[in-house]
Amino acid sequence: MSEKLKPININGLELQHPVMNGAGPIKLLKHVRQIAESKAAAVVVGSITVEERSGNAGTTYYVEADKRFSLNSKGLPNYGIKFYQKNLSEMVKIAHDHGKPLIMSIAGFSPEEYAQLAKMVSEYKVDGLELNLGCPNVLEKDGKQKEITSFNQDLTGETLWKTQQVVGSEIWTTVKLSPFSNPLGLMAIAAIIGESKMVNAVTTTNTFPNAYAFNDVGSIAVDPNNGLGSLGGKAMKPIGLGQVKQLREVLPANIRLIGVGGISNRKDVDDYLSAGADAVQITTEFINFGPAIFDAILRE
Ligand SMILES: Cc1cc2nc3c(=O)[nH]c(=O)nc-3n(C[C@H](O)[C@H](O)[C@H](O)COP(=O)(O)O)c2cc1C
Repeated sequence: MSEKLKPININGLELQHPVMNGAGPIKLLKHVRQIAESKAAAVVVGSITVEERSGNAGTTYYVEADKRFSLNSKGLPNYGIKFYQKNLSEMVKIAHDHGKPLIMSIAGFSPEEYAQLAKMVSEYKVDGLELNLGCPNVLEKDGKQKEITSFNQDLTGETLWKTQQVVGSEIWTTVKLSPFSNPLGLMAIAAIIGESKMVNAVTTTNTFPNAYAFNDVGSIAVDPNNGLGSLGGKAMKPIGLGQVKQLREVLPANIRLIGVGGISNRKDVDDYLSAGADAVQITTEFINFGPAIFDAILRE
């Protein structure tokens, strides 16, 4: 039997314990209620964009039969800024009524859009911002993949700077990254994040871009982008742990880490905490099992 997971304070963000949901599936009031009523320690909503998006067409999600991995090419479906202006106060209230902070994940298509989204969100007294700099599944009108912000150092620096200019350094902020296979790229982004005055934490990692799989009947598992989708689920765990381990070594100590990737049980949580994470998020296994995943982990 593992020791009980303890309350933590991540640079001002108070959590009853270190386990929360990861960004992706939580977009509507009913989803917020579901997480608020679960054993998760916080409610992570989004990612949201300025404009409403229906996401990519065709089959955009696949989970391998033994749940060893997920492949997704959702392309950030969400209801856009206007919807959240109408619903965010209620979402925050639901989370707070259950004693949980609400973290809003935002995804801009330019530094200005991140700033615009951050400003809107901060007006609704959310408890934290997660800047999703790592979405791999956004396709341009001509079908080409959009650049992943966290792989571009200038764009990342400009995004942090422009966002900070608009919302200051008061709002609790975490920056969500794509997984780096180039250790020098990871170090360069860590240096840029370390210089920013607005960043309290780094969330690592988003899905691994451009994975490819066949489904159980031998067809490509997801339709958009010629079948290239992004990898989540259990297969991501050693990659996520590696990102946490490396980032912990190079980031300033005051920037805390939220680990995500392949968490399905209490040992996975403990492994992330041992590698240097302060808290963790769960996405694929939440999609697989619903809020019961939090009960199971908290019980273990
Ligand atoms: C269907 C799906 C949708 C996702 N959408 C988002 C998103 O909107 N924003 C984001 O930052 N990450 C998104 N992610 C990435 C996850 O939050 C997480 O970083 C990644 O899947 C690794 O964690 P996991 O192994 O627990 O799934 C999504 C993942 C999945 C599977």
